[in-house]
Amino acid sequence: MKVPARRLLSDALRHDLGLTGTHVGCEHGVCGACTILVDGAPTRACLMFAVSAAGYEITTVEGLARPDGSLGPVQQAFRECHGLQCGFCTPGFLTTITAGIAENPDPTEDEARDMVAGNLCRCTGYQNIVKAVGRAAEPGPGRGDRMTTKMFGAKVPRVEDDRLVRGTGRYVDDVALDALHVAVLRSPHAHARIVSIDVDAVLDVEGVHLVWTHEDLTGAMAEPLPLLIPHPTLTEGRTQYALAKDEVNYVGEAIAIVVAEDRYVAEDAIARIAVEFGSLPAVVGIEAARAAEHLVHDDVPGNVAATTEQSNGDAPAAIAAAPHTLSLDLDIERSACMPMEGRGTAARWDPDQNRLQVWTSTQTSTGVRAAIAARLGLDLGQVDVITPDVGGGFGVKIVHPWPEEPAGAAGRQDARPAGEVHRGPP
Ligand code: FES
Ligand code: FES
Repeated sequence: MKVPARRLLSDALRHDLGLTGTHVGCEHGVCGACTILVDGAPTRACLMFAVSAAGYEITTVEGLARPDGSLGPVQQAFRECHGLQCGFCTPGFLTTITAGIAENPDPTEDEARDMVAGNLCRCTGYQNIVKAVGRAAEPGPGRGDRMTTKMFGAKVPRVEDDRLVRGTGRYVDDVALDALHVAVLRSPHAHARIVSIDVDAVLDVEGVHLVWTHEDLTGAMAEPLPLLIPHPTLTEGRTQYALAKDEVNYVGEAIAIVVAEDRYVAEDAIARIAVEFGSLPAVVGIEAARAAEHLVHDDVPGNVAATTEQSNGDAPAAIAAAPHTLSLDLDIERSACMPMEGRGTAARWDPDQNRLQVWTSTQTSTGVRAAIAARLGLDLGQVDVITPDVGGGFGVKIVHPWPEEPAGAAGRQDARPAGEVHRGPP
């Protein structure tokens, strides 16, 4: 097999060989989801070029089953001990533990914890994973006989676990589409004005089909995204645009997208977009927001989005009569959910059927469907949203739509002849 010199081993395995059991969570060597065995040693496939694998024996999760097709010992132990939920991190754990037990066939609990210390799981917690290490290291006979189909008083295997431990789950990046790829230019600033965006250097990049900034969006696509929960007390709710308009309000906010032949070309092109920012003060933390020395949004006085008062009975009289009173000033922490699978979106425009198909990693496919139809001016019946296996959500994937979802519908440009660079809506 021939691969370009800079192609990552993770991409070659997943997209060239179709071994999609090797998952990519961070692509920075941190999460461990992409761990494979290179001559038996656990290795991050996202940090290795495919050409560097020449001459080595590579084992992925697909190679962990027994020769007769039944689950391998670590896969079986994960199933028995409920060592997985969404299954996105699981292949990386399975390969790591397979190598760990080969080196240390009888690990203590501490050694089992050390064995998996370089792999992250957000759903399961590590207790059952550590248990599975011990179970996998037990002598073989009897393993696999611990589940039952009784529904009461016994552990029942989840139906999806067999395919998840085999690496045959189907997450959004596993959907095989011969599609163009979208890369997103994101804000490096927490708060800044966008003075100018120059995309000229992108227009002649071979393989680039389209570049969009906010000024290319029209109609509903140019409006702020809908508010997820328009609670009546939220008098100054603000939502972002699909692509930032005039200013950015957080690090990572989408500013521009490039659609290109492949992800490598798209990301190279993104790096050629020049944005001039005018720095604005970031308002960090509840105290700074309350002090309102600086405003998060110019049109939100005092940085107050909502005021909620609740009372029950005659509270002032009850407080006045109370022998003791206590005043509390509570800071409610913000929570940031970090599923191991990011928010991927794939889209295909079918010109014959006049329909848009969207695959997205969401917890609310009907909400995304309605939002995309509204944004793109399509009838609801023209849009299908398909949610394959989801690699963790924790609520963050309930938000609909994320900017990348309507922007990802730029896949409609598939119908456009290759090589034509297009600015403006489809
Ligand atoms: S370590 Fe490779 S994808 Fe996270
Ligand atoms: S099961 Fe580990 S991240 Fe979901």
